[in-house]
Amino acid sequence: MEKIIPFAHKLLEEVVTRNDITVDLTAGKGNDTLFLARISKYVFCFDIQEKAIEYSKELTKDYNNIKFICDNHENLLKYVNTKIKGAIFNLGYLPGENKDITTKAESTLNAIKSVLAILDHGGRCVIVVYPGHKEGYKEALALDDYLSKLPQQQFEVIKYKFINQINNPPYILAIERI
Ligand SMILES: C[S@@+](CC[C@H](N)C(=O)[O-])C[C@H]1O[C@@H](n2cnc3c(N)ncnc32)[C@H](O)[C@@H]1O
Repeated sequence: MEKIIPFAHKLLEEVVTRNDITVDLTAGKGNDTLFLARISKYVFCFDIQEKAIEYSKELTKDYNNIKFICDNHENLLKYVNTKIKGAIFNLGYLPGENKDITTKAESTLNAIKSVLAILDHGGRCVIVVYPGHKEGYKEALALDDYLSKLPQQQFEVIKYKFINQINNPPYILAIERI
């Protein structure tokens, strides 16, 4: 079966074309930014840490279709005022760095609401959720609560999860605007 990150990318690849704008809300080490730079016309890439922006710039140095923004992703609409076809959140903290600098339920929900405000018809927002640490668990509950109430006439929402794995493994939530 498809693993979590490949499946997250596949969900985006199915709808994003070379004419589309995309957003990476959590740059981290830049792997998702690199993926989006390859499949879309232009990528807006956010991270709250300068260090993550530097990692991501280095990984994507062969691409000139990325705008890097070092700010909280809940400020998305300050920087992006165009329709987008794809967005990805890879939640949690920067691997190998300070685990206290992690995504949090409230700002993640604010950022998702902003993404949905500019998500085009047929566009998808993919969220990789890590419920295995304390903050991630709170975030997972808040996301389930909010996303399960999105109106089904406007959005399809799925969860992709390996339900027989131990230690609260990561899983995917994905939203498509109909
Ligand atoms: C798991 S990492 C992302 C992995 C990354 N997408 C990759 O491909 O390597 C999560 C990132 O989210 C960032 N982050 C945490 N809170 C944030 C916020 N409120 N706004 C923007 N970025 C945030 C962290 O600094 C960290 O780099």
